[in-house]
Amino acid sequence: MIYRGAFVTALLLWSLPAGAQSVDAGGPLYRVHCYPCHGQEGESVPGVSFRSGQYRRASTDEELSRIILGGIPGTGMPPTNLSADERRNLVAYLRSMHSTGESAKGAGDAARGMAIFDGKGACLNCHRVRGKGSRMGPDLSDVGALRNAAYLEKALTDPNDAIAPANRFVRVVTKDGTAISGRRLNEDTHTIQLIDEKERLVSLNRSELREVVLVKTSPMPGYREKLSAQEMTDVVSYLLSLKGSQ
Ligand code: HEC
Ligand code: HEC
Repeated sequence: MIYRGAFVTALLLWSLPAGAQSVDAGGPLYRVHCYPCHGQEGESVPGVSFRSGQYRRASTDEELSRIILGGIPGTGMPPTNLSADERRNLVAYLRSMHSTGESAKGAGDAARGMAIFDGKGACLNCHRVRGKGSRMGPDLSDVGALRNAAYLEKALTDPNDAIAPANRFVRVVTKDGTAISGRRLNEDTHTIQLIDEKERLVSLNRSELREVVLVKTSPMPGYREKLSAQEMTDVVSYLLSLKGSQ
């Protein structure tokens, strides 16, 4: 992946470098600014279908970006004040909704995916779904509302390439030499909170730490060899069906 180096740097700087285009960065923007009207699959506005990849009012990325900035006067499509980089990331995300739309539903069997998730995949050893499982990895109860199929597939096959900033693992060493690794939940100027490998919430004062290192590899194993292509598709379908506890 071309921007992977840049992506890692970006996480360290907490912002994307100018010019980089990132589907991952576009997802959260879509969720905040577009999802309320266009919906999860981009199908909620009559006559508009992001999944189809066809736009009535735009063909190029430039034109899409212009619509996002200016809205469509005289219609329900409002203008935004998103920056050029944010619009670029959103356009990348809109385009990805097309390429992943078909695999999103049709191919997999969510019930079989759930059996794999709870059974042979042993996903509950690290993840939690609706109150069941471990807190070591992120809670996946509403992952289907937050992520698209392409993202989920990538999370399963190449976990190191698809770590969301909020799920970063850090390794800290205290002044007395104790090393603690865990998933970063929160941090501010003075403290840092982790869920450690025994699922304990740990809050540390920065002044007591000798070092804090972002771990660039995910503790999550890749499933390319462990699951067949069909099993992978089933698991992704199951994950897409997780949209919070209704
Ligand atoms: C308040 C509701 C609303 C929000 C929020 C909204 N849209 Fe729209 N959008 C619409 C409506 C309604 C249309 C259809 C306008 C028309 O053509 O009549 C539309 C049309 C579009 C189109 C043109 C589709 C085509 O076929 O040419 C694009 C692209 C688009 N929206 C992208 C976005 C993006 C990206 C966001 C988030 C930044 C967003 N919209 C936020 C309501 C909204
Ligand atoms: C050894 C622990 C472990 C196991 C087993 C594991 N995961 Fe993970 N998983 C993690 C951790 C830690 C993260 C957060 C870091 C990352 O994104 O790689 C994660 C991230 C994810 C994400 C991305 C979540 C997001 O919103 O970014 C998905 C999806 C996921 N796992 C699904 C699965 C599925 C499905 C299985 C079983 C087939 C599984 N995981 C097994 C530890 C694990």
